[in-house]
Amino acid sequence: MKLIFASHNQNKTREINQILGNFIQVYSLTDLGIHEEIPETGSTLPENALLKAQAAADITGLSVFADDTGLEVEALNGAPGVISARYAGPGKSALANMEKLLDELQGKSNRNARFVTCICLIINNEKHLFEGELKGRIGYEMRGDKGFGYDPLFIPEGDERTLAELSADEKNSISHRAKAIEKMRLFLETKLGSTQS
Ligand code: IMP
Repeated sequence: MKLIFASHNQNKTREINQILGNFIQVYSLTDLGIHEEIPETGSTLPENALLKAQAAADITGLSVFADDTGLEVEALNGAPGVISARYAGPGKSALANMEKLLDELQGKSNRNARFVTCICLIINNEKHLFEGELKGRIGYEMRGDKGFGYDPLFIPEGDERTLAELSADEKNSISHRAKAIEKMRLFLETKLGSTQS
């Protein structure tokens, strides 16, 4: 089956296609020649996933899904959360976001944190939400040069390395996004399997 991913991010689209395998082919809005930006104006991750999926469904009339991810830090009452991409301000770099996070955590011994990904799938006019999380802690310094975003600061549970020190395959085998995508894949396989039998 074909699914539209409400995003222009070709790296994420490739990563999701790798996780989903042959059963489902994912195309980004860019792949369809649609360059419209969908604003993320929701105040929670599920709200943002829903509004992006709904906008893409309205534009394409096809089966679509959208994702939204945030880093939630326990000692900061869940911040940066839904504003993870713009924590240090609009248009600021991942480095600036990480520097702000280190500043905010100065003197705090509780470094527990988690990444959460929410996915909203719209198929046959029905909406379905899937969530994946990765628990871990925030390190005291940035380490590693792989990945993106907060990866150089995030140490997943059961490891001493940051996500930026893991290979892409290692990260994909534990990541919040991979877990949410896997839940969507299982749902689609079950749903389509039952309609075809
Ligand atoms: P998005 O919803 O996937 O665009 O993610 C929002 C923001 O969360 C990104 O701009 C990153 O700062 C951060 N983020 C999302 N996923 C990851 C990840 O896997 N590693 C590190 N940072 C991430």
